[in-house]
Amino acid sequence: MAGALFLGLDVGTSGVKAILVARDGEVVASALTPLTMSTPHPGWAEQDPDAWWEATVASIRRLRGERPDADIGGIGISGQMHSSVFLDRAGNVIRPALLWCDGRTTEQCAEITRRAGGEDRLRDWVRNPALEGFTLPKVLWLREKEPEAYSRLATVLLAKDFIRYRLTGALATEPSDASGTLMYDPAGQRWSDEILNAVGVPRALLPDVGGSSEVLGRVTADAARLTGLAEGTPVVGGGADNACGAAGVGVVTPGEAVASWGTSGTVLAPTAQPLVDPGLRAHTFAHVVPGTWYLMGVVLSAAGAFNWYHQQLARELDETPESRKALDAEAASIPAGAEGVTFLPYLQGERTPHRDASARGAFTGLSLAHTRAHLTRAVLEGVCFALRDSVSILQELGLSPHSLLLTGGGARSPFLRRLQAEVYGVPVQTVNREEGPAYGAALLAAVGAGAFPDLASAARATLTRSAPEAPDAAAHRAYDAPYARFRALYPALRGVPAVG
Ligand code: XUL
Repeated sequence: MAGALFLGLDVGTSGVKAILVARDGEVVASALTPLTMSTPHPGWAEQDPDAWWEATVASIRRLRGERPDADIGGIGISGQMHSSVFLDRAGNVIRPALLWCDGRTTEQCAEITRRAGGEDRLRDWVRNPALEGFTLPKVLWLREKEPEAYSRLATVLLAKDFIRYRLTGALATEPSDASGTLMYDPAGQRWSDEILNAVGVPRALLPDVGGSSEVLGRVTADAARLTGLAEGTPVVGGGADNACGAAGVGVVTPGEAVASWGTSGTVLAPTAQPLVDPGLRAHTFAHVVPGTWYLMGVVLSAAGAFNWYHQQLARELDETPESRKALDAEAASIPAGAEGVTFLPYLQGERTPHRDASARGAFTGLSLAHTRAHLTRAVLEGVCFALRDSVSILQELGLSPHSLLLTGGGARSPFLRRLQAEVYGVPVQTVNREEGPAYGAALLAAVGAGAFPDLASAARATLTRSAPEAPDAAAHRAYDAPYARFRALYPALRGVPAVG
């Protein structure tokens, strides 16, 4: 019989979180080790996979310190999608990972589309267009720009799969993360020989694909010594952070949707078929539930934009929850629409809806009458407007959930919950757990260990939803003009050349 607790890990961009979850769903311990991201040029973004591993070890050791007697029945891992881990034959990291928000591969994306014979072919093969953030363009970039490194390349992994490799020695992935590589067909659930052959990337570089709640490896003696985990502890497939984030609030069946506010912001709706956006603005990926897919719009800078703003323009406020509340209060003191100030959060380019890695951020409408509080409000509204673009795309495609589950920073702040409900014009809800993707990963581990028959049962047994907070119709209408201003900005600024 499986142990009493399940370990959920999330390899995020801002840190590695580890939580221990009991069978009744209670989170009995939690640890977060922060990470930094390097931006060597505007639009680039890198992290060292070995830093992810060190942060993972530190977080697990802290949990073990708090609960030395914990009987762990299984481990589930979730992680940032798309980021490229390049390993040599001995399993060493060749160079820092190019992250999901790295925009350097525009030429490689054009090459992939050309070699495939056009975007329609890509849609048939892998259900998504070539976008800079995805993994395949990063492989082509390495081949072209760092040929010596490419000559040593033996394996391409994703963030959470690299952590599994370090924990268990097993090279493996699962459908939700494989979907984001542009080398996997989420509909057919297999690596796409069509795209691999078209671009000349060997299938041998890619790991085998198992199930998200299937045991794909066991903790080795070496990893046990480093982390304090028991040797042999099973590690399940886990999933992409967005899929695990959805699972962590119980969004696992068609008809529901979740809006997440992490470094990136996403709006995700599960589907019973691999539905593709005719405009290819939203992504089509496999969910962590077998036979379920999702459509997802992605905003590259959500909390990422707000944290940048906080660090650069509100420096006197430290990074405590009290400071965060002070900034919310500042924003709440200004009316909807920030009296004409608009913020475009495209600090790392943008995916949905513009698919433009060279897009950049902007403040517009400034006057001498405006204060820092207007800027604070404009930043929060700008992120919500960018997410509303994704909500609208899902609605346009017939996915109109009666409420949106919120997760991440946007779920924790009462101001942001109300702002989101009013800007989207959709009631919002939260659940009684705040751990996001790490919680979904722990539920997958519990399913893998046989504690629940499937993910939907695990979610039902462990999660309780709050009553929906419905937006006031007049409050929603108050955003009509500010949102129209926001929508007009990107096309207006596209003609202004950005540097880098
Ligand atoms: C999704 C995406 C981001 C990362 C963040 O396509 O790129 O949401 O998964 O970790």
